[in-house]
Amino acid sequence: MSPALVGEKWWKNSIIYQIYPASFKDSNGDGIGDIPGILSSLDYITSLGVDVIWLCPMYDSPQIDMGYDVADYENVYAPYGTIQDMETLIDECHKRGLRIILDLVVNHTSDQHKWFQESRSSKTSPKRDWYIWKPAKYDANGNRQPPNNWRSVFGGSAWEWDEKTEEYYLHLFCVEQPDVNWENAETRKAVYESAMEFWLQKGVDGFRVDTVNMYSKHPDYANAPILDPKSDTQPAFSLFCNGPRIHEYLSEMNNVLSKYDAMTVGELPNTHTLEGVLRYVSAAEKQLSMVFQFDLVDLGQGKDYKYLTTLPGWTLRDLKAAVKSTQDIINGTDAWTTVFMENHDQGRSVSRFGSDKTPELRVRSAKMLAMMQSTLSGTQFIYQGQEIGMVNAPKEWTIDEYKDIDSINYYQMTSKVTNNDPVELEKAMTSLQHLARDHSRLPMQWNAEANAGFSSSSAKPWMRPHDNYPEINVKLQEKDNSSVLSFWKQMNALRKQYADLMVFGLFEILDEPNQSVFTYTKKSQDYTLFVALNFSDKAQKFEKLDTAQSDWKLLASNIEDPQEELQAFEGRVYLV
Ligand code: GLC
Ligand code: CA
Repeated sequence: MSPALVGEKWWKNSIIYQIYPASFKDSNGDGIGDIPGILSSLDYITSLGVDVIWLCPMYDSPQIDMGYDVADYENVYAPYGTIQDMETLIDECHKRGLRIILDLVVNHTSDQHKWFQESRSSKTSPKRDWYIWKPAKYDANGNRQPPNNWRSVFGGSAWEWDEKTEEYYLHLFCVEQPDVNWENAETRKAVYESAMEFWLQKGVDGFRVDTVNMYSKHPDYANAPILDPKSDTQPAFSLFCNGPRIHEYLSEMNNVLSKYDAMTVGELPNTHTLEGVLRYVSAAEKQLSMVFQFDLVDLGQGKDYKYLTTLPGWTLRDLKAAVKSTQDIINGTDAWTTVFMENHDQGRSVSRFGSDKTPELRVRSAKMLAMMQSTLSGTQFIYQGQEIGMVNAPKEWTIDEYKDIDSINYYQMTSKVTNNDPVELEKAMTSLQHLARDHSRLPMQWNAEANAGFSSSSAKPWMRPHDNYPEINVKLQEKDNSSVLSFWKQMNALRKQYADLMVFGLFEILDEPNQSVFTYTKKSQDYTLFVALNFSDKAQKFEKLDTAQSDWKLLASNIEDPQEELQAFEGRVYLV
């Protein structure tokens, strides 16, 4: 276990490794990752120097949104394994001193969940009110219209007409993910029991809480302002995020969690003010241990549609501001923060923020990003494959290789709206090649054997393995001291050793206007950590910037023999 600072919660100084079950390790050759596969990799995971694993949804689900559509919280998706496999996994983690957290998806269920099946069965069903049902509206011509103009996060109306009972139900995500009605106290109680306590009693150590700010909707369900006049649906985040009762619900939820001393990390999109974030994570508020704030991963994404953007769409100054906003959460407050650049909803960080143009720059920039992540304050999250510097799927891959509903919806919408205009479709593909959620869902690259060692050679993995697995894989990198993997292990160890600077230190940017180099310090009472990162593919001047001390010790570097200038994507971490 991580050596927590005296008086600090264990999760502050933890490094958490995120696992996407479908793509991690397939033990039985059906092409789908599974829990026995994770079990067989626990020694690898501990070798990274991490303290906790976070498992993306492994619950029973029709998998319309890769398990974020849960049909039964108290069961496991059969291709992943059984409840017993999960019990073994929890045990085996604990035996190794690893903790384990699960994904808690309770803003919505699958339409296959028995609660929704009952709810949709009739208007008088005792569970009718467990979901959000509204009558139709009619326009001047008498045509049926949804209750309002809200756009679903995955595109299209957020309302679905139910023929049988002649009402609309709300789904902020896909049609098959109806939103649960949190206004109903009985429903909330059922959620706590089935989705949380069932697993807490089995010994899980906490949850990553999906879409944590969407449970309370604006009560009058007003139309969203028209930002996209060409469309009949509008982005409505301000009307369904951070609603009036959200903090009441989270306090109530915390009463359950605190009985088990469980940690929580909430997914907090569309919340960009410090004040707004603090209401979720200030210790005095007793809501969540920490949140994922989206400033950094949103960089370069379109406002109306994530993929409707001009690449890269961000500058280094934007990145610095985004990092600062995550670091400010703990500056002089009683709150806690997180550090992450990847998860199962993002393109790979090397492809987005580093360079995958040549093998040399790929390796160097992956290490530079590891240096940045490892020296920022907060609980650290590493996404599977990030530790070996996996990159986005190749540009040559067509839409047929993309499996995510979000990607497919966007491509289909573009093709419909533009009447198959090849130029627009090409633009959509360019954007998807950069930002699609699919990239992080490619099979984990274990070795140079068939199927990247993810699955047996005769299997057909559910997603095509990246063509570059013979060069980028765990087995090769384990043997190589200069690999990205070895570097991450080194940085993880340094983070433990210098926790008061790296995990808890006070962050300050020294070169805010510089669009090529990111220089910052982290301070504890006695020491300063000085970090300089060249985010450009050209050599840049290295400046010690107003740090008067003379005693400089190089703690980490990603090139062999650092010279005066910073090489392309070079990074340095000094103790001064
Ligand atoms: C979160 C998950 C994402 C999922 C969505 C709906 O954003 O991370 O994968 O599609 O919630 O549950
Ligand atoms: Ca399998």
